[in-house]
Amino acid sequence: MMVRALQLARKGWGRTAPNPMVGAVIVRNGRVVGEGFHAGVGCVHAERMALAGTEAFGSTAFITLEPCSHFGRTGPCANALIAAGVKRVVVGTLDPNPKVSGKGCELLRRHGVDVSVGIEDKACQDLIRSYTWNMSTGGPWIHAKWAMSADGKIASLSGNSKWISGEKSREWVHGLRGSVDAIVVGSGTALTDDPLLNVRPDGKRTPVRILLDRRGRTPISQRLAQSIDWGPVVVITSNQAPLEWRRVWRAKGVEILAAEDCLDALKALAQSRQWSELLLEGGAQILGAAFARGWVNEAHVFVGAKILGGVAAPGPIWSPVGDPGALTMAEAQQLVLADCQVSGPDVRLRYWVQETPLGGSFGRPKTEDIA
Ligand SMILES: NC(=O)c1ccc[n+]([C@@H]2O[C@H](COP(=O)([O-])OP(=O)(O)OC[C@H]3O[C@@H](n4cnc5c(N)ncnc54)[C@H](OP(=O)(O)O)[C@@H]3O)[C@@H](O)[C@H]2O)c1
Repeated sequence: MMVRALQLARKGWGRTAPNPMVGAVIVRNGRVVGEGFHAGVGCVHAERMALAGTEAFGSTAFITLEPCSHFGRTGPCANALIAAGVKRVVVGTLDPNPKVSGKGCELLRRHGVDVSVGIEDKACQDLIRSYTWNMSTGGPWIHAKWAMSADGKIASLSGNSKWISGEKSREWVHGLRGSVDAIVVGSGTALTDDPLLNVRPDGKRTPVRILLDRRGRTPISQRLAQSIDWGPVVVITSNQAPLEWRRVWRAKGVEILAAEDCLDALKALAQSRQWSELLLEGGAQILGAAFARGWVNEAHVFVGAKILGGVAAPGPIWSPVGDPGALTMAEAQQLVLADCQVSGPDVRLRYWVQETPLGGSFGRPKTEDIA
């Protein structure tokens, strides 16, 4: 039943922040009589959705998170369970919110409800990890995402990285983008990739797109500036950026913030706007700086079925595959994923190397060139 409640809770993915995802199942006489989840801020809580129109007297409620006992946007859910005559409440995990933690269970017990806590607790805690983080630190949960070739390169020798991962992975990333408050890239990525950073198709949220550009190097012709109608863009820059450059970007409707330290300013911005989740999309310097500050909570690493090679290509210099490397993405050695296994803390990937007639990549002549 708790696994079902977890499934229900995930229906709220990307919509509930700053609230947590919660799922609930009501069981009476061995039958599920009510199901609910929290669908978003201002929406009814999972327990109330599950109780609505249900004869719950003498029932057992399975809830992923401890029911609230305080008056927020809605009345306390613990009271609703008591009023409905629920006999037993099975809770996945306690609420990390100090206003609630333990108090919801206590209130239920005081009214004679039998309460057990800690069923599927690991999964229930994982479900609310960003909420727990927000509660305990006051800062956002930070995702880092990158795609690398099977030899660890993040771009080809020309600097281009479109596309290292396949369509399915990119689709997943769009889902992630649509569930965060803001997406961040550095000017190096903007200059080489000209990213839009939007969500396709439109997601549950419209994230703020943030560019970190201390020197004001990114031209106004970039898609980021030209797509302001899609959603807000913030540029965090410094006094090194020319005033005229700032004026031009501002005239496009972009919010310009000048700071001594772009990352500190990003953090302050996230806190002042009470953002729950941020997504760092690179490039290497921004991710390096974020990891160095111990900021990253979750990393999404896509290993594309390609070999890029090339000592000078972005990524590790002593990558497993050295020169000559692929100049462009089109010249990458194509692989086909044969198997993927969890190997202790590692992942073992097995690929078939796609037949390339007489090379066809890494600067070697292609069949048609020889013919
Ligand atoms: N495979 C992938 O998943 C992926 C993802 C993204 C990018 N890429 C590739 O990565 C390459 C770009 O990476 P990159 O490392 O050159 O550029 P980057 O990390 O995107 O941007 C670096 C620039 O950001 C600015 N910046 C602002 N605040 C900073 C701070 N606190 N610390 C460091 N830099 C700060 C700096 O320029 P200023 O001093 O002018 O501000 C710096 O030169 C491209 O080839 C791109 O295609 C790959």
